[in-house]
Amino acid sequence: MLICVPDVLSKDDVADFRRIMDASGWEDGRSTAGAQSALVKRNEQLPPNSDVSRQLGKRVVSAITSNPKFISAAIPLHIFPPLFNRYAAADGHHFGIHVDNAVRGDHLTGARIRTDLSVTLFLSEPDDYDGGELVVEDNYGSHEVKLPAGSLVLYPASSLHMVTPVTRGVRVGSFFWIQSMVRDQHARTLIYDLDTAIQGLVARLGRDDPETVKLTGVYHNLIRYWAEV
Ligand code: NI
Repeated sequence: MLICVPDVLSKDDVADFRRIMDASGWEDGRSTAGAQSALVKRNEQLPPNSDVSRQLGKRVVSAITSNPKFISAAIPLHIFPPLFNRYAAADGHHFGIHVDNAVRGDHLTGARIRTDLSVTLFLSEPDDYDGGELVVEDNYGSHEVKLPAGSLVLYPASSLHMVTPVTRGVRVGSFFWIQSMVRDQHARTLIYDLDTAIQGLVARLGRDDPETVKLTGVYHNLIRYWAEV
C-alpha cells in the first residue's frame, strides 16, 4: 500500500532546504546504487556522507518522527540517514525500473537496516517540472505519484518502482528507507487501518468511549503481538 503524508515540511523549510541544496556540490547518483539499479539510474545526489546531507537529513528525521501519520503508517524502528537527489531535464535524468537493496549499511556508523519501506519526500513543486513521476507497481497495477513540495510517500521497499524522465525543469527530493517494528506489510497495513478508524471514533465519541478504549487496547496488543524491537 502507498501512503501519502502531506506537509511534513513547511514551505519555509522547503525553501531553506532548496537554498542550501542549490549551493551544494552534486555527484553521480550511482555511488549508492546496487549492481542492477546502477544500470538504470541517471541522476545526481548530494554526497551521502557530506555535512550538508547529514544536517538536512537530521532535519527530515526530526520532522517525520514528530508526524503522527508517518509514525502510524511506518511504525519505525530504524531510519536510514536521508539522501538527497536531483533529476534535471537538461541532463535527461531518470531512474529505470528496479527494486531497492534489501539491506543498507551506513558507511559512517556501520549500522545496517533491513529496508521494509521506501520513502520519497518531494522538495520541488509539481508545477516546476514535467515528468519525474515516481511509479510504484503492486498487485493492483502501477501507481504514479507526484506530490507538493514538503509531502512524502511511503511504499513497500519490495516493490518494483521507477522515476520517469524529467522533461522540463528540475525535480529535487529526499529518499531513504525505514526498518519497521512490524516487518510484514499486511500486518502493518491492518494496524494502520485500525489506528485510522480509532482516530475517527475518538473525534466523534471522545477518548473515553468504552468501545474506543477497547479498540485502542486491540491496537496496542496487535503491535505487542507483531513488533520486533
Ligand atoms: Ni529505488
